[in-house]
Amino acid sequence: MCGIIGYIGDGRACEIIVKGLKRLEYRGYDSAGIVTGDGERLYIRKGAGRIDELVQRLNFLEMPGNRGLGHTRWATHGVPNDTNAHPHRDCTGRIALVHNGIIENFAELKEELLKRGHRFESDTDSEVIAHLIEEELKFEGSFEEALRRALLRLKGSFALGVVYSGEPDRIYFVRNESPLVLGIGEGENFGASDVPAFLEYTNKVVFLDDGEYAVVKPDSWEVKKIKTGERVHKEVKRIDWSLEMAEKSGFPHFMLKEIFEQPKAVMDAIHGNSGVIAGIAKEIAAYDKIVFVAMGTSYHAALVGKYLFQRLVKKVPIVEEASEFRYEFGDLVDEKTLVIAITQSGETADTLAAMKLAKKRGAKVLAIVNVVGSMATRIADMTLYTHAGPEIGVAATKTYTTQLAVLTMLTIETAKFLGTTEREKLLMLEEELKKVPDAISKALELHGVIKELAETLTSSRDAFYIGRGIGFPTALEGALKLKEISYIHAEGLSAGELKHGPLALLEEGVPVVAVAPTGKTLEKLISNVEEAKARGARAIVVGSSEALKRVADTLIAMPPLDELLSPMVYVVPLQLMAYHLAVLRGNDPDKPRNLAKSVTVE
Ligand code: G6P
Repeated sequence: MCGIIGYIGDGRACEIIVKGLKRLEYRGYDSAGIVTGDGERLYIRKGAGRIDELVQRLNFLEMPGNRGLGHTRWATHGVPNDTNAHPHRDCTGRIALVHNGIIENFAELKEELLKRGHRFESDTDSEVIAHLIEEELKFEGSFEEALRRALLRLKGSFALGVVYSGEPDRIYFVRNESPLVLGIGEGENFGASDVPAFLEYTNKVVFLDDGEYAVVKPDSWEVKKIKTGERVHKEVKRIDWSLEMAEKSGFPHFMLKEIFEQPKAVMDAIHGNSGVIAGIAKEIAAYDKIVFVAMGTSYHAALVGKYLFQRLVKKVPIVEEASEFRYEFGDLVDEKTLVIAITQSGETADTLAAMKLAKKRGAKVLAIVNVVGSMATRIADMTLYTHAGPEIGVAATKTYTTQLAVLTMLTIETAKFLGTTEREKLLMLEEELKKVPDAISKALELHGVIKELAETLTSSRDAFYIGRGIGFPTALEGALKLKEISYIHAEGLSAGELKHGPLALLEEGVPVVAVAPTGKTLEKLISNVEEAKARGARAIVVGSSEALKRVADTLIAMPPLDELLSPMVYVVPLQLMAYHLAVLRGNDPDKPRNLAKSVTVE
């Protein structure tokens, strides 16, 4: 995944683009570059490294001009180095572009272009596009026509920003299976991979759809179809995200800020959905075949959804990683299936492909999404939003707990509708759900304690997270957080599985984190903790029962809460532990090595 930002107006393009790039850095951070245009002259500077460092080294802020494009890269084709950084140019240097996505037929196009005498500077698939446009420009017609003809030859996913020296009054933006949104200002306009890139200047946006491109000038914009060049009518939407939401607001990292935003985010998720959830529950209640598809943290939310459905709706959903679903299972769904896709970004390639496949097979698709207007919301038959606000830290935190809030509401409503659980129990859960934001605030008060705990764990090589029942997905998520940002090897396990292999890895002092809500399997879990301790493990136990004091070397005390609601709260200390371990080990928790916020390629 990469990030694109483009600007045209009367401001200094380089300043606006650098700011945009910093806000998009979560999308990729191995190299970056900028092209600005001053009249007919194009200026390009690019290199490998983080944006702050490049701003100094390449003097990005001295680039002239009132239009330009910036790109922050997360390498797919070609290693991260100075030449593979975007923007890329054609042979004449008159065309420059930035690209997010993958051109699947780039090898054959490159071979053809090499035969025609084009010289390539980089190993990227993206550079091919610039030369292809150059080639098309040799024929009749305008630059726009040449661009369109070139686009028609591309296979794969691409969001593009393109500038041409011969047309100093405009920038082209293109979207096909990679996100691109226009920002509409006063006498200035923007294009970007994501809204926070230009949120400081405007909250009026136009979402491009697949197969569309935009011609953007300072005072006007129009969107057309790649296929025919015909104009498309697009609506301007207002986004209710504020700039503050996309800034660190005094926190050292976005991740910590987002962890602390969880009480409010969960409250917003509850309020934001209370009016719509019953209608959706009614729609889905008829389905017996329910399949959850998701990736990463969203997959863990789906697992929590499975336990909730089993307990309250008395149905057994299937939970599949979207990447597995699309090749191994998708063909078996039909019009009697409900597919619930969970995705923060709404642009994870595997999840989108799974949704498309499910729709093709006639299944009903419900999406649980954070990013308004994202691709997933357009594929789905129905969408529920998590209302978490922008999440910049690569490791998901508040978007996870809000996904859980939405799933909890959805399950309670479906159970009410079907009468599968006693009404009193459902009403009690509904009341207690309202108290979850406070319970999260209580968990956040442990911040200092968790930091001290993390200080004792900095040299751990491995960590094991165990849980049972609805605590099991929390164990998986705790382990994922730790490995993502602290780079400590961590495994999440169902506690019953411990004896079937992982126990062999336990040595003196190895941390075993037990997720231990009070519920039907607590006693069993306590026995598992004892087994681990007998092999020398250090037991870090998250829970509220008095009985835990007996086994815990370190007890992370949680407020009392129904087991079914515990995932939203119990994950919080695990997020904090991963965060502090990352910082203590000298890592940047917002930008973990090798990872990207959304994986828009397979
Ligand atoms: C990446 C991110 C994870 C996220 C996963 C799924 O791996 O680093 O934090 O959980 O993608 O993303 P989605 O946007 O579909 O929830």
